[in-house]
Amino acid sequence: MASDPVYEATCTAPVNIAVVKYWGKRDTTLILPTNSSLSVTLSQDHLRSLTSARCITTTSNNSNANAVADRLWLNGHEEEIQQGGRTHRCLAELRQMRKDLESRDSSLPKLTDFALHIASENNFPTAAGLASSASGLSALIATISTLYALLPENGVSVSDLSRVARQGSGSACRSMFGGYVAWDMGTRDDGHDSVAVEVAPASHWPDLHALILVVSDKKKGTPSTAGMQRTVATSDLLKHRIDHVVPARMDRISTAIRNRDFDQFAIETMADSNQFHAVCLDTQPPIFYLNDVSRAVIQLVAELNRASVDAGKGYLAAYTYDAGPNAVLYVRERDVKLVLELVLRYFPQQTFDDPFHLGPEPAAASSFVQG
Ligand code: DP6
Repeated sequence: MASDPVYEATCTAPVNIAVVKYWGKRDTTLILPTNSSLSVTLSQDHLRSLTSARCITTTSNNSNANAVADRLWLNGHEEEIQQGGRTHRCLAELRQMRKDLESRDSSLPKLTDFALHIASENNFPTAAGLASSASGLSALIATISTLYALLPENGVSVSDLSRVARQGSGSACRSMFGGYVAWDMGTRDDGHDSVAVEVAPASHWPDLHALILVVSDKKKGTPSTAGMQRTVATSDLLKHRIDHVVPARMDRISTAIRNRDFDQFAIETMADSNQFHAVCLDTQPPIFYLNDVSRAVIQLVAELNRASVDAGKGYLAAYTYDAGPNAVLYVRERDVKLVLELVLRYFPQQTFDDPFHLGPEPAAASSFVQG
Protein backbone atom coordinates (compact mmCIF):
# COMPACT_ATOMS: atom_id res chain seq x y z
CA MET A 1 0.00 0.00 0.00
CA ALA A 2 1.46 3.36 -1.01
CA SER A 3 1.92 5.68 1.93
CA ASP A 4 1.13 9.40 1.83
CA PRO A 5 4.11 11.54 0.86
CA VAL A 6 5.59 13.54 3.74
CA TYR A 7 6.15 17.25 3.28
CA GLU A 8 7.97 18.78 6.21
CA ALA A 9 10.76 21.19 7.04
CA THR A 10 12.74 22.31 10.09
CA CYS A 11 14.66 25.56 10.45
CA THR A 12 16.27 27.58 13.21
CA ALA A 13 16.46 31.34 13.49
CA PRO A 14 18.58 33.44 15.80
CA VAL A 15 17.76 36.35 18.06
CA ASN A 16 18.68 39.85 16.93
CA ILE A 17 19.47 42.68 19.31
CA ALA A 18 18.72 46.19 18.08
CA VAL A 19 21.30 48.92 18.43
CA VAL A 20 18.87 51.46 16.97
CA LYS A 21 15.52 50.53 18.50
CA TYR A 22 12.18 50.05 16.80
CA TRP A 23 9.51 51.49 19.09
CA GLY A 24 6.22 52.61 17.59
CA LYS A 25 3.96 51.68 14.68
CA ARG A 26 2.31 53.92 12.13
CA ASP A 27 0.15 50.96 11.02
CA THR A 28 -0.61 48.34 13.65
CA THR A 29 -2.11 45.77 11.24
CA LEU A 30 0.64 45.72 8.64
CA ILE A 31 3.23 46.46 11.37
CA LEU A 32 4.78 49.52 9.76
CA PRO A 33 7.19 51.27 12.11
CA THR A 34 7.49 54.96 12.97
CA ASN A 35 11.27 54.77 12.51
CA SER A 36 13.92 52.63 10.86
CA SER A 37 15.99 50.39 13.11
CA LEU A 38 19.22 48.41 13.00
CA SER A 39 20.30 45.24 14.76
CA VAL A 40 22.98 42.63 15.12
CA THR A 41 21.84 39.04 14.57
CA LEU A 42 23.52 36.79 17.12
CA SER A 43 24.97 33.39 16.42
CA GLN A 44 22.51 30.50 16.68
CA ASP A 45 24.69 28.58 19.14
CA HIS A 46 23.14 30.20 22.19
CA LEU A 47 19.80 31.89 21.59
CA ARG A 48 17.62 30.49 18.86
CA SER A 49 14.16 29.27 17.96
CA LEU A 50 13.75 25.91 16.25
CA THR A 51 10.60 25.31 14.23
CA SER A 52 9.27 22.27 12.38
CA ALA A 53 6.28 22.29 10.07
CA ARG A 54 4.49 19.46 8.30
CA CYS A 55 1.71 19.39 5.76
CA ILE A 56 -1.10 17.18 7.05
CA THR A 57 -1.75 15.19 3.93
CA THR A 58 -4.09 12.61 5.46
CA THR A 59 -7.75 13.49 5.69
CA SER A 60 -8.74 10.77 8.19
CA ASN A 61 -9.62 13.25 10.93
CA ASN A 62 -10.96 15.80 8.53
CA SER A 63 -14.13 15.21 6.52
CA ASN A 64 -13.39 18.10 4.18
CA ALA A 65 -10.09 17.54 2.39
CA ASN A 66 -9.78 21.22 1.60
CA ALA A 67 -10.47 22.51 5.10
CA VAL A 68 -7.33 24.17 6.38
CA ALA A 69 -7.04 23.88 10.14
CA ASP A 70 -3.51 24.81 11.01
CA ARG A 71 -2.21 24.05 14.49
CA LEU A 72 0.70 25.53 16.41
CA TRP A 73 2.63 24.36 19.47
CA LEU A 74 5.01 26.76 21.26
CA ASN A 75 7.43 25.20 23.72
CA GLY A 76 5.19 22.13 23.89
CA HIS A 77 1.89 23.94 24.51
CA GLU A 78 -0.72 24.33 21.83
CA GLU A 79 -1.55 27.96 20.99
CA GLU A 80 -4.66 29.04 19.20
CA ILE A 81 -4.05 30.50 15.73
CA GLN A 82 -6.56 33.31 15.81
CA GLN A 83 -8.45 34.15 12.66
CA GLY A 84 -7.00 37.42 11.34
CA GLY A 85 -4.24 37.38 13.98
CA ARG A 86 -0.55 37.82 13.21
CA THR A 87 0.34 34.15 12.72
CA HIS A 88 -2.80 33.60 10.67
CA ARG A 89 -1.94 36.51 8.37
CA CYS A 90 1.65 35.31 7.91
CA LEU A 91 0.46 31.81 7.01
CA ALA A 92 -2.14 33.21 4.62
CA GLU A 93 0.50 35.31 2.89
CA LEU A 94 2.93 32.38 2.56
CA ARG A 95 0.10 30.19 1.19
CA GLN A 96 -0.68 32.83 -1.40
CA MET A 97 2.98 32.94 -2.44
CA ARG A 98 2.99 29.14 -2.74
CA LYS A 99 -0.27 29.24 -4.73
CA ASP A 100 1.34 31.66 -7.18
CA LEU A 101 4.24 29.23 -7.52
CA GLU A 102 1.91 26.25 -8.03
CA SER A 103 -0.06 28.11 -10.69
CA ARG A 104 3.19 28.86 -12.57
CA ASP A 105 4.45 25.28 -12.31
CA SER A 106 1.74 22.61 -12.48
CA SER A 107 4.22 19.83 -11.62
CA LEU A 108 4.48 21.09 -8.06
CA PRO A 109 2.44 19.31 -5.39
CA LYS A 110 -0.57 21.33 -4.24
CA LEU A 111 0.68 21.86 -0.71
CA THR A 112 -1.72 24.72 -0.14
CA ASP A 113 -4.57 22.18 0.04
CA PHE A 114 -3.21 20.83 3.31
CA ALA A 115 -3.29 22.05 6.87
CA LEU A 116 0.00 22.79 8.59
CA HIS A 117 1.11 21.49 11.97
CA ILE A 118 3.85 23.67 13.37
CA ALA A 119 5.95 23.15 16.50
CA SER A 120 8.42 25.74 17.77
CA GLU A 121 10.71 25.90 20.77
CA ASN A 122 13.16 28.42 22.17
CA ASN A 123 16.33 27.44 23.99
CA PHE A 124 16.04 30.53 26.23
CA PRO A 125 13.34 32.22 28.37
CA THR A 126 10.41 33.38 26.27
CA ALA A 127 9.21 37.00 26.55
CA ALA A 128 11.90 38.06 29.02
CA GLY A 129 13.12 40.90 26.84
CA LEU A 130 15.45 38.60 24.92
CA ALA A 131 13.77 39.15 21.57
CA SER A 132 12.02 35.76 21.52
CA SER A 133 9.28 37.00 19.19
CA ALA A 134 11.94 37.96 16.63
CA SER A 135 13.56 34.54 16.49
CA GLY A 136 10.24 32.71 16.86
CA LEU A 137 8.49 34.45 13.98
CA SER A 138 11.51 34.41 11.71
CA ALA A 139 11.98 30.66 12.36
CA LEU A 140 8.32 30.16 11.45
CA ILE A 141 8.69 32.10 8.19
CA ALA A 142 11.98 30.38 7.34
CA THR A 143 10.46 26.93 7.94
CA ILE A 144 7.27 27.42 5.94
CA SER A 145 9.10 29.17 3.13
CA THR A 146 11.50 26.20 2.94
CA LEU A 147 8.56 23.77 2.94
CA TYR A 148 6.85 25.80 0.21
CA ALA A 149 10.09 26.32 -1.79
CA LEU A 150 9.75 30.10 -1.57
CA LEU A 151 13.37 30.55 -2.52
CA PRO A 152 15.46 33.03 -4.52
CA GLU A 153 15.53 30.61 -7.50
CA ASN A 154 11.73 30.79 -7.49
CA GLY A 155 11.75 34.58 -7.41
CA VAL A 156 11.36 35.07 -3.64
CA SER A 157 14.16 37.06 -1.98
CA VAL A 158 15.07 37.17 1.72
CA SER A 159 13.76 40.75 1.82
CA ASP A 160 10.43 39.47 0.41
CA LEU A 161 10.26 36.98 3.28
CA SER A 162 11.25 39.73 5.75
CA ARG A 163 8.09 41.57 4.60
CA VAL A 164 6.03 38.58 5.74
CA ALA A 165 8.00 38.16 9.00
CA ARG A 166 7.44 41.85 9.76
CA GLN A 167 3.71 41.21 9.86
CA GLY A 168 4.25 38.54 12.51
CA SER A 169 6.42 40.72 14.74
CA GLY A 170 8.22 43.84 13.59
CA SER A 171 11.65 42.95 14.91
CA ALA A 172 11.38 39.46 13.34
CA CYS A 173 12.03 40.88 9.88
CA ARG A 174 15.61 41.64 10.91
CA SER A 175 16.31 38.02 11.99
CA MET A 176 15.78 36.85 8.41
CA PHE A 177 19.36 37.99 7.75
CA GLY A 178 22.54 37.22 9.69
CA GLY A 179 25.06 39.88 10.65
CA TYR A 180 24.22 43.59 10.65
CA VAL A 181 20.70 44.33 9.47
CA ALA A 182 18.65 47.47 8.92
CA TRP A 183 14.87 47.53 8.83
CA ASP A 184 14.05 50.34 6.46
CA MET A 185 10.79 51.85 7.69
CA GLY A 186 9.63 52.58 4.11
CA THR A 187 7.14 55.22 3.07
CA ARG A 188 4.39 53.28 1.29
CA ASP A 189 1.02 52.69 2.92
CA ASP A 190 0.93 49.05 1.77
CA GLY A 191 4.28 48.36 3.47
CA HIS A 192 5.91 46.99 0.34
CA ASP A 193 9.10 48.97 0.98
CA SER A 194 9.22 48.28 4.74
CA VAL A 195 11.75 45.45 4.61
CA ALA A 196 14.98 44.26 6.17
CA VAL A 197 18.23 44.78 4.28
CA GLU A 198 21.71 43.55 5.03
CA VAL A 199 24.16 46.27 6.10
CA ALA A 200 27.08 43.83 6.41
CA PRO A 201 27.39 40.05 6.84
CA ALA A 202 28.53 38.63 10.21
CA SER A 203 31.90 37.80 8.63
CA HIS A 204 32.51 41.52 8.06
CA TRP A 205 33.18 42.15 11.77
CA PRO A 206 33.83 38.81 13.54
CA ASP A 207 35.74 40.68 16.24
CA LEU A 208 32.47 41.93 17.73
CA HIS A 209 30.91 39.81 20.47
CA ALA A 210 27.69 40.11 22.43
CA LEU A 211 27.53 39.26 26.13
CA ILE A 212 24.04 38.61 27.45
CA LEU A 213 23.70 39.53 31.12
CA VAL A 214 20.52 37.93 32.39
CA VAL A 215 19.24 40.11 35.19
CA SER A 216 15.84 38.42 35.24
CA ASP A 217 14.22 35.71 33.13
CA LYS A 218 10.71 36.60 34.34
CA LYS A 219 8.11 37.55 31.73
CA LYS A 220 8.22 41.31 31.18
CA GLY A 221 5.55 43.58 32.70
CA THR A 222 4.52 45.64 29.68
CA PRO A 223 4.64 43.73 26.39
CA SER A 224 6.38 45.64 23.60
CA THR A 225 3.34 45.65 21.33
CA ALA A 226 1.12 47.44 23.86
CA GLY A 227 3.88 49.58 25.33
CA MET A 228 5.05 51.07 22.05
CA GLN A 229 1.56 52.22 21.04
CA ARG A 230 1.09 53.84 24.42
CA THR A 231 4.31 55.72 23.70
CA VAL A 232 3.09 56.71 20.21
CA ALA A 233 -0.10 58.08 21.74
CA THR A 234 1.44 60.02 24.61
CA SER A 235 5.15 60.83 24.21
CA ASP A 236 6.44 64.14 22.81
CA LEU A 237 9.97 62.85 23.09
CA LEU A 238 9.13 60.05 20.65
CA LYS A 239 8.26 62.63 17.96
CA HIS A 240 11.62 64.32 18.45
CA ARG A 241 13.36 60.93 18.28
CA ILE A 242 11.59 59.94 15.06
CA ASP A 243 12.16 63.24 13.24
CA HIS A 244 15.47 64.49 14.56
CA VAL A 245 17.49 61.62 16.02
CA VAL A 246 17.01 58.24 14.33
CA PRO A 247 17.61 59.16 10.65
CA ALA A 248 21.09 60.60 11.32
CA ARG A 249 21.88 57.84 13.82
CA MET A 250 21.04 55.16 11.22
CA ASP A 251 23.58 56.75 8.88
CA ARG A 252 26.27 57.13 11.54
CA ILE A 253 25.96 53.60 12.93
CA SER A 254 25.87 52.04 9.45
CA THR A 255 29.09 53.89 8.66
CA ALA A 256 30.59 52.78 11.98
CA ILE A 257 29.76 49.15 11.15
CA ARG A 258 31.16 49.42 7.63
CA ASN A 259 34.38 50.95 9.05
CA ARG A 260 34.46 48.57 12.03
CA ASP A 261 34.70 51.70 14.17
CA PHE A 262 33.93 50.36 17.64
CA ASP A 263 34.03 53.71 19.45
CA GLN A 264 31.41 55.26 17.18
CA PHE A 265 29.35 52.06 17.27
CA ALA A 266 29.45 52.10 21.09
CA ILE A 267 28.53 55.80 21.34
CA GLU A 268 25.49 55.38 19.08
CA THR A 269 24.37 52.09 20.64
CA MET A 270 24.39 53.38 24.21
CA ALA A 271 22.80 56.71 23.26
CA ASP A 272 20.00 54.91 21.46
CA SER A 273 19.33 52.54 24.36
CA ASN A 274 19.25 55.50 26.73
CA GLN A 275 16.83 57.39 24.50
CA PHE A 276 14.58 54.38 24.05
CA HIS A 277 14.23 54.05 27.85
CA ALA A 278 13.79 57.82 28.17
CA VAL A 279 10.92 57.57 25.69
CA CYS A 280 9.41 54.80 27.81
CA LEU A 281 9.64 57.09 30.83
CA ASP A 282 8.03 59.88 28.78
CA THR A 283 5.01 57.61 28.16
CA GLN A 284 1.77 58.12 30.08
CA PRO A 285 1.63 56.18 32.37
CA PRO A 286 5.41 55.63 32.26
CA ILE A 287 6.91 52.27 31.36
CA PHE A 288 9.87 50.99 33.38
CA TYR A 289 11.92 48.19 31.90
CA LEU A 290 15.23 48.76 33.68
CA ASN A 291 15.70 47.80 37.32
CA ASP A 292 18.39 48.67 39.88
CA VAL A 293 20.72 45.94 38.59
CA SER A 294 20.31 47.16 34.99
CA ARG A 295 21.18 50.69 36.06
CA ALA A 296 24.19 49.46 38.07
CA VAL A 297 25.46 47.66 34.93
CA ILE A 298 25.10 50.94 32.98
CA GLN A 299 27.12 52.75 35.64
CA LEU A 300 29.80 50.08 35.62
CA VAL A 301 30.13 50.17 31.82
CA ALA A 302 30.25 53.99 31.83
CA GLU A 303 33.01 53.90 34.43
CA LEU A 304 35.00 51.25 32.54
CA ASN A 305 34.68 53.21 29.32
CA ARG A 306 35.79 56.45 30.96
CA ALA A 307 38.90 54.76 32.37
CA SER A 308 39.66 53.02 29.07
CA VAL A 309 39.22 56.21 27.00
CA ASP A 310 41.39 58.16 29.47
CA ALA A 311 44.07 55.50 29.04
CA GLY A 312 43.93 56.04 25.27
CA LYS A 313 42.41 52.58 24.60
CA GLY A 314 39.01 53.66 23.35
CA TYR A 315 35.66 52.24 24.45
CA LEU A 316 35.61 48.88 26.20
CA ALA A 317 31.93 47.95 25.93
CA ALA A 318 28.55 49.17 24.68
CA TYR A 319 25.39 48.31 26.60
CA THR A 320 21.92 48.09 25.20
CA TYR A 321 18.58 47.09 26.77
CA ASP A 322 15.35 46.05 25.05
CA ALA A 323 11.94 45.85 26.71
CA GLY A 324 13.29 44.22 29.86
CA PRO A 325 16.05 44.52 32.47
CA ASN A 326 18.59 42.23 30.75
CA ALA A 327 21.73 43.84 29.40
CA VAL A 328 23.45 43.04 26.15
CA LEU A 329 27.06 44.22 26.03
CA TYR A 330 28.84 44.51 22.71
CA VAL A 331 32.56 43.97 23.26
CA ARG A 332 35.57 43.41 21.03
CA GLU A 333 37.18 39.97 21.25
CA ARG A 334 40.34 41.28 22.90
CA ASP A 335 38.26 42.74 25.78
CA VAL A 336 35.77 39.90 26.34
CA LYS A 337 37.72 38.21 29.13
CA LEU A 338 38.38 41.47 30.97
CA VAL A 339 34.78 42.67 30.73
CA LEU A 340 33.38 39.30 31.83
CA GLU A 341 35.74 39.19 34.81
CA LEU A 342 34.72 42.70 35.84
CA VAL A 343 31.01 41.99 35.44
CA LEU A 344 31.28 38.81 37.47
CA ARG A 345 33.30 40.58 40.16
CA TYR A 346 30.66 43.28 40.60
CA PHE A 347 27.65 41.02 40.01
CA PRO A 348 28.57 37.62 41.44
CA GLN A 349 26.25 34.79 40.58
CA GLN A 350 25.51 31.43 42.12
CA THR A 351 26.32 29.20 39.21
CA PHE A 352 28.19 29.49 35.97
CA ASP A 353 26.88 26.27 34.46
CA ASP A 354 23.50 27.54 33.44
CA PRO A 355 23.57 31.07 32.07
CA PHE A 356 19.88 31.51 32.91
CA HIS A 357 20.05 30.35 36.50
CA LEU A 358 19.38 33.15 38.97
CA GLY A 359 20.49 33.19 42.57
CA PRO A 360 18.52 34.92 45.33
CA GLU A 361 20.83 37.95 45.03
CA PRO A 362 20.52 40.31 42.08
CA ALA A 363 22.71 38.53 39.61
CA ALA A 364 24.13 39.03 36.20
CA ALA A 365 24.71 35.75 34.50
CA SER A 366 26.59 35.71 31.29
CA SER A 367 26.43 33.91 28.05
CA PHE A 368 29.00 34.30 25.35
CA VAL A 369 27.69 34.82 21.89
CA GLN A 370 29.54 35.70 18.77
CA GLY A 371 28.07 38.57 16.80
C1 DP6 B 1 12.42 46.99 22.25
O1 DP6 B 1 9.09 43.40 17.47
O2 DP6 B 1 8.47 42.59 19.78
O3 DP6 B 1 12.92 44.95 21.15
O4 DP6 B 1 6.18 44.37 16.28
O5 DP6 B 1 4.64 44.51 18.22
O6 DP6 B 1 5.82 42.35 17.71
P1 DP6 B 1 5.89 43.87 17.65
O7 DP6 B 1 7.05 44.32 18.61
P2 DP6 B 1 8.50 43.70 18.78
O8 DP6 B 1 9.24 44.97 19.43
C2 DP6 B 1 10.63 44.97 19.67
C3 DP6 B 1 10.98 46.19 20.43
C4 DP6 B 1 12.41 46.25 20.92
C5 DP6 B 1 13.29 47.02 19.97
C6 DP6 B 1 13.78 46.33 18.73
O9 DP6 B 1 13.94 45.10 18.71
O10 DP6 B 1 14.03 47.06 17.75
